[in-house]
Amino acid sequence: MRTTSRFAGLLAAMLMVVLAFSLAPSHPASAATSAAHRDASLRQLASRLGIRVGSAVSLSPLSNDAAYAQILGQQFSAITPENEMKWDTVEPQQGVFNFAPGDTEVKFAQQHGQLVRGHNLVWHSQLPSWLTGGSFTNEQLADILKQHIFAEAGHYRGKIWQWDVVNEPLNEDGSLRSTIWSNALGPDYIADALRWAHQADPHAKLFLNDFNIEGIGPKSDAMFALVKSLKEQHVPIDGVGFETHLGLQFGFPSMFKENLQRFADLGLDVSITEIDVRMILPVTPELLAAQADVYTQVMQDCIAVRRCVDFTIWEYTDKYSWIPGFFTGQGAADIYDENLVPKPANAALLDALQHPVSHQHHNG
Ligand code: G3I
Repeated sequence: MRTTSRFAGLLAAMLMVVLAFSLAPSHPASAATSAAHRDASLRQLASRLGIRVGSAVSLSPLSNDAAYAQILGQQFSAITPENEMKWDTVEPQQGVFNFAPGDTEVKFAQQHGQLVRGHNLVWHSQLPSWLTGGSFTNEQLADILKQHIFAEAGHYRGKIWQWDVVNEPLNEDGSLRSTIWSNALGPDYIADALRWAHQADPHAKLFLNDFNIEGIGPKSDAMFALVKSLKEQHVPIDGVGFETHLGLQFGFPSMFKENLQRFADLGLDVSITEIDVRMILPVTPELLAAQADVYTQVMQDCIAVRRCVDFTIWEYTDKYSWIPGFFTGQGAADIYDENLVPKPANAALLDALQHPVSHQHHNG
């Protein structure tokens, strides 16, 4: 059920538009409303619903591609550094910190009224070689992790909206992933990391983030049990990130909305943190239309769950997408094409945000 607060804001905004235009009788209210929204940005339309629309961002295009940066600033109300806050960038040598790339992105966000998702404090990937190649005792690794979290979350204290404190902790069958951290500290490394992050930045919203947890299944069940247990132990956790790396060839995750809602019902925020919808190339009009439908459905499901507060695309443009480099023969996963031209998925998102009440949810 949609709760009142999200839609109260929307209704108030619509009422103001209707009232404003009712003073000009030559324009019917409906035409006036659509005229008022014709040039609205994603971020404007989403803000009426209490949702941030975000994009991952990389430093190179942000610094070198003015057209890219302009769209990023105009259309999006949140950013997530794609690589610049990861351990291999931030702490390339033990105890030596490199915050400059992330700082540049945070500054851009502040200049454009955007919030920042910090990504990430603890992961098994993109670790520096001094760490993966070192021979540390378990006690030393626990201390290294604690120091890293305090250094990074402390550096960005007060500037981060949501931190992905632990990234991708689970296997596909729902078991805990075997990593340098789980092996050294045991399963409690997740609770420890959340507690340390909370001490370092008490106001940041603390998240666990993972992929293939969008539909209901063993992995999302395990994430649900994990965060429920953390809540019961009063471990500081505020939300769960659903990466949502989808592909047209895979179909839509089953019971997506219901899955988001059960996490929300635990008292957690839920965020769509890394959405992209890839396809097997070449691009066709039919595939672009199908892709637009998937983006629409995810946005509708986010709108339907009051605690879904963020819809972040993993790079808004195909020009800088990670997909072609990782999945041979696939791509075109984002909402702007390689020439920064909006795709049908972009129009679909604008439409879903403009007409949230009239759209019906359906499972694929
Ligand atoms: O920075 C080096 C550069 O010095 C070197 O010359 C070049 C040669 O390959 O590599 C560069 O590093 C690359 C890095 O991105 C920065 O561009 C790595 O090879 C490349 O593997 C890395 O890929 C990133 C990937 O995470 C690594 O796991 C992608 O950009 C990034 O989009 C992706 O993001 C992840 C999220 O963090 C977590 N969820 C899944 C998502 C997609 O895999």
